[in-house]
Amino acid sequence: MAKVQTSSSRPYHIIIFGASGFTGQFVVEELARTMSEGPNGTLKWAVAGRSRPKLEKVLEQAAGVLGKPELRAAVEVLVADVGEPDSLAAMCKQAVIVLNCVGPYRFWGEPVVKACVENGAHCIDICGEPQFLESMQLNYDSQAADKGLYIVGSCGFDSIPADLGVIYTRDQFKGTLTAVESFLTASAGPEGASIHDGTWQSAIYGFADSEKLRNLRKKFGHNPLPVVGSKIKRRSALFYSSEVQQYAVPFMGADPSVVKRTQRFLHEDYQETPVQYGAYAGVGGAANVAKMLIVGVMFWLLVKFSFGRNLLIKYPEFFSFGYFSKDGPSRKQMEGSSFQFAFHGEGYTEGQDPSQGPPNSKIRTLVQGPEAGYVATPITMVQAAITILNEPTALPKKGGVYTPGATFARTTLVERLNKHGVQFSVI
Ligand SMILES: NC(=O)c1ccc[n+]([C@@H]2O[C@H](COP(=O)([O-])OP(=O)(O)OC[C@H]3O[C@@H](n4cnc5c(N)ncnc54)[C@H](OP(=O)(O)O)[C@@H]3O)[C@@H](O)[C@H]2O)c1
Repeated sequence: MAKVQTSSSRPYHIIIFGASGFTGQFVVEELARTMSEGPNGTLKWAVAGRSRPKLEKVLEQAAGVLGKPELRAAVEVLVADVGEPDSLAAMCKQAVIVLNCVGPYRFWGEPVVKACVENGAHCIDICGEPQFLESMQLNYDSQAADKGLYIVGSCGFDSIPADLGVIYTRDQFKGTLTAVESFLTASAGPEGASIHDGTWQSAIYGFADSEKLRNLRKKFGHNPLPVVGSKIKRRSALFYSSEVQQYAVPFMGADPSVVKRTQRFLHEDYQETPVQYGAYAGVGGAANVAKMLIVGVMFWLLVKFSFGRNLLIKYPEFFSFGYFSKDGPSRKQMEGSSFQFAFHGEGYTEGQDPSQGPPNSKIRTLVQGPEAGYVATPITMVQAAITILNEPTALPKKGGVYTPGATFARTTLVERLNKHGVQFSVI
């Protein structure tokens, strides 16, 4: 692994903000693990949040899990609250990069981005909420650019595998890749799987506010991206996918929005051919389809009203057939879980003119890894931060508010992820 190149007078290279949250605790463990790898050991880091006792407990727990009793004394604890701008400013002044794990981001995210931009820290988050991600781009891109800071949203399972997966597929394709469909499948061990309440709440408020997202997008005033080659066909709301041998639905997360923003950046700033993208998720057999329809109908009915949202928030297990829970997955459940993204790309071999007929070549790639939310997400977040610290010359020329694909297209992030259990391969 490359040597850490950052030199800074700031006390910490990395501060994990929201380290006491369900996801934050695993980001702490992953960063501590990464620190024991050669040159990364020279990085200085701290944890931050609004409750010192909780943060101390997280460090003690990580020390126990990793068998590193020295961790507790070696890692500093900083107190900062989203509601207290001075505390955020004081935190951001001490960091080269802030890893923000405080969500839902629509409620707590903007003050952190603002404080980072005003106080000279890069910022990475694991947000899966397009409205927040895009509004940060609208409001802070030029300020971040002026200061040479990188504000990079969605560096977790949303949306590094999808966004970097499309770029990896393009890089492996011999010719011009014009379209990719991804099919996400997840599997669980005998203990089953679960997602923590924090993500459930982010989804509830995101769906409730989808009208605002449409209005926000109009403010960018973007022209449509050019379609090169045949136009990608949109699949129906539910279909049997021969690609993953199960029923599938359009993927409802942030990936399509993030990938599209990346493709726009690569086209407008690097003059690359934009890749059209369709994202789908496998749901399994007929029994799962029936469950999903029941959950989907209840969700759509309730999410529109504040009374309904309160019900959804109070009883996540009931309204999701136990898939979301206030306790989150157990470590045993996490050990038994994994994800797989299959990318099916098509395009034109070298010398073939995309305006002269349908694509004449295909490619299949895979991105696979451990449990998505709390194992893979900490890995992608930590490796994204390490890449920003290590590879400043491979980042976009000027700072700004970016997607992972725009930020890391020319870095070695994919290689770093391959070494840490999130694997990219060609089939
Ligand atoms: N991209 C992905 O794949 C992915 C995966 C996992 C999670 N996420 C996202 O990450 C976010 C966190 O999820 P989670 O499950 O970890 O939620 P969580 O357990 O509720 O954690 C929320 C964190 O925010 C902190 N917080 C809340 N209000 C604060 C304030 N005013 N000042 C400072 N800190 C405050 C909490 O502090 P206390 O501990 O003091 O309460 C806690 O540390 C969600 O938006 C979720 O969607 C994304």
